[in-house]
Amino acid sequence: MYMSNIILTGDRPTGRLHLGHLVGSLFQRVQLQDSESYDEMYIEIADAQATTDNSGNIKKVKDNVIEVALDYLSCGINPEKCTIFLQSEVPELSDLTFYYMNLVTLSRLQRNPTIKQEIVFRNFKNSIPVGFMTYPISQAADITAFDANIIPVGDDQLPMIEQTREIVRTFNRLYGETLVEPNAVLPENTFCHRLPGTDGEAKMSKSLGNCIYLADSEEEVKKKVMGMFTDPNHLKVDDPGVTEGNPVFIYLSAFSKEEHFHKYFKNSETGEVEYNNLDELKAHYERGGLGDMKVKKFLNYVLQDILAPIRARRHELEKNIPEVYQILFRGSDKARKKAQETLERVKTAIGLNYRNDIELINEQVEKYALLHKEEN
Ligand code: TRP
Repeated sequence: MYMSNIILTGDRPTGRLHLGHLVGSLFQRVQLQDSESYDEMYIEIADAQATTDNSGNIKKVKDNVIEVALDYLSCGINPEKCTIFLQSEVPELSDLTFYYMNLVTLSRLQRNPTIKQEIVFRNFKNSIPVGFMTYPISQAADITAFDANIIPVGDDQLPMIEQTREIVRTFNRLYGETLVEPNAVLPENTFCHRLPGTDGEAKMSKSLGNCIYLADSEEEVKKKVMGMFTDPNHLKVDDPGVTEGNPVFIYLSAFSKEEHFHKYFKNSETGEVEYNNLDELKAHYERGGLGDMKVKKFLNYVLQDILAPIRARRHELEKNIPEVYQILFRGSDKARKKAQETLERVKTAIGLNYRNDIELINEQVEKYALLHKEEN
């Protein structure tokens, strides 16, 4: 049997997208999209999921929908190939969530490592919103509604995919083969699973103020790069430096290509290339004699090369915001059609399809016919 390949990913619209998103997911999404080795591709702007910890600040969620959409489109997501949609525009997802909730225990949700971390990070203590606690179930609805089997995500999302797989297996066991079991796909470059912040913190995060955003201006990017945390013991240029865990070198591992070395380390007079690749640059830093300034300047050039075309596309798109909303609405209409079909299939599998269930109606007719016969 031919099994179609359906890709689905999503982001919560709680802020602009940054370099962490670029290496963690956006590059890979564009690559997948352009490979055309799939049947359908969806990207969900998970605005409903974003309300699970922002119920008092819906405006923030709404405002960031357009930011995230602009970021997608400027990175090269093509709405002709990839359906971008809004979660709140597909109410069938809530119906699916409602039925899946019966297939998951509370203690299973409480064991989800990402949920556990988020509870601490958000300081929920004993006031965890039920909607927040159950969002992994709603995410299973996001994925299964589209029969998606390929889910490109960062490693923090692995528990969500595992939860989805469990729900699919339980559902299919109880109600017959109905849902498709998804697989997570992580980015290939292991430096990309999680990009540290410019301050050396483990993760780029808006609340820590350590992000380089895709929409940052050239000057902002430069300022942030020049202020980056490096090896704190590398005080003098001649001191040996540590590259492992050093955010400047981690960024270079994630973004620099050999062409950058040939472009920016070439002596214009002699034509000689000072460093041919990252290994040579690292070796010099570790030996001593290579200053942070020089490495940061190079990183700035590399990032500007990558961000300039993205920034330029964003400027064009910003001139036609109503069209960006139309892209989201057209995508949502298409996504909703598909989710409606899946919901029909799910309700039929469970047996909650009264309108087409002639057998059930006949059964009730016979039951009452028998009853009245006995009365006569
Ligand atoms: N939980 C994801 C995040 O926080 C967003 C998301 C919602 C998602 N639905 C999804 C990711 C479905 C992958 C598949 O970034």
